[in-house]
Amino acid sequence: MKKIIINGGKSLNGKLAVPSAKNSLLPILAGSILVKGVVKINGFERFSDCEDMLEILRRLGAKTVVKGKTLYLDCENINNSVVESDLALKLRASIYTMGAIMARMKVAKIAYPGGCLIGARPIDQHLKGIRSLGGRIIERHGYLYCKGENLTSGEVYLDLPSVGATYNIILASVCLKGTTTIYNVAKEPEVVDFQNFLNACGARVSGAGTDKIVVKGVGKLLHSCEYKPIGDRIIAGTYLIAVAGCTGNIKLTNVNPEHLEALLYRLEESGCEIKRGKNSISLTCDHRPKALTRIETKPYPGFPTDLQAPMMALETVSDGSCLIIENLFESRFKHINELNKMGANILVADRNAIVKGTDMLYGADVYASDLRAGAALIIAGLMASGYTTIHNIEHIDRGYIKIEDALKKLGADIIRKNF
Ligand code: UD1
Repeated sequence: MKKIIINGGKSLNGKLAVPSAKNSLLPILAGSILVKGVVKINGFERFSDCEDMLEILRRLGAKTVVKGKTLYLDCENINNSVVESDLALKLRASIYTMGAIMARMKVAKIAYPGGCLIGARPIDQHLKGIRSLGGRIIERHGYLYCKGENLTSGEVYLDLPSVGATYNIILASVCLKGTTTIYNVAKEPEVVDFQNFLNACGARVSGAGTDKIVVKGVGKLLHSCEYKPIGDRIIAGTYLIAVAGCTGNIKLTNVNPEHLEALLYRLEESGCEIKRGKNSISLTCDHRPKALTRIETKPYPGFPTDLQAPMMALETVSDGSCLIIENLFESRFKHINELNKMGANILVADRNAIVKGTDMLYGADVYASDLRAGAALIIAGLMASGYTTIHNIEHIDRGYIKIEDALKKLGADIIRKNF
């Protein structure tokens, strides 16, 4: 079993280039199903979730070539409309293929998606949205049997601003004739990035970043394009929090500070000095973090649920107490037991956790239950005295590229063991 071992307590200093956003790459890969021709993605990163998505596309009939950080993705000859459960269960984003395959092939059989076990994660909004455009979907034996021949442009109102449902409805409508308006959509920067990618392929989508997206259907498949996704704000946030917890100085490039304001303001309140560049962020911290009274996760532009676990790790060594409320995913507190094994003092009730800061964590053997819980344990290990071994690091590889190499560059004493 792969594990990461950290000898904690080192200050972190240096520069890092933030990789392209996993959460942009995944919808872009699904969106390529609608492209007749080759999509060239610059800054392609081999997150294990992206490798799994590429395997899904290859089984549909796509051809893929990765040269360094460039992906050539050719969906010209897609001829299969089935996404089997062995792959679908590996990642939540497998469900994004539903809208695209329905639009392109008029029929689809898609297994229910998997992904991090952080809550029930229903897909009712995806189904409601596509059904309200005339798509027929029957749920049987763990599969969605879909018919897209009656898909027609129209209006969709989401009950909540789901990122994934927003993608699926755009994908179902972008090649139709006529205008589709989607209300109460997700406003995440990755949704804007996805819109920009589709428009580079000839789509006519507008409004991303606001509550309402308007898709002017182009009545045909999209064309080839070359595209570079935005930097990963969650990876950037993870490294900033790590430096805030360990003290030091970091400059991150390839990240738009506007995408991370919800975190940057909180880190400033914690006592960090932050400089915002055009596409860079610098952070300096030379003392124990000040406790934040309350952190509550919200859809963008609120505090991101994906940084809740890393931020909780930081609060474990703050100089007071903090209430952390997780509003998005009901089972996203699985890191708490592991942090408490390292000397943290966290009480949890339902979706609320009270973190009482302690002077110092100590190393322990801990288990990553999901992607961001794993990132939190890495931060805790970096801050702790002595050795921490983090097991189940496959979860971490889903959303971070060789995290140990990046942290080593900053001065961390960290190694990966593949046995
Ligand atoms: C995406 C991100 C994930 C992030 C999450 C919230 C990707 C690949 N993943 O996940 O990293 O944590 O946004 O920012 O981009 N919901 C429903 N019904 C639905 C869909 C969602 O009730 O049909 C609920 C979910 O249970 C959750 C909330 O809506 O409580 C937000 O989920 P959603 O925005 O859909 O997250 P994902 O797209 O799965």
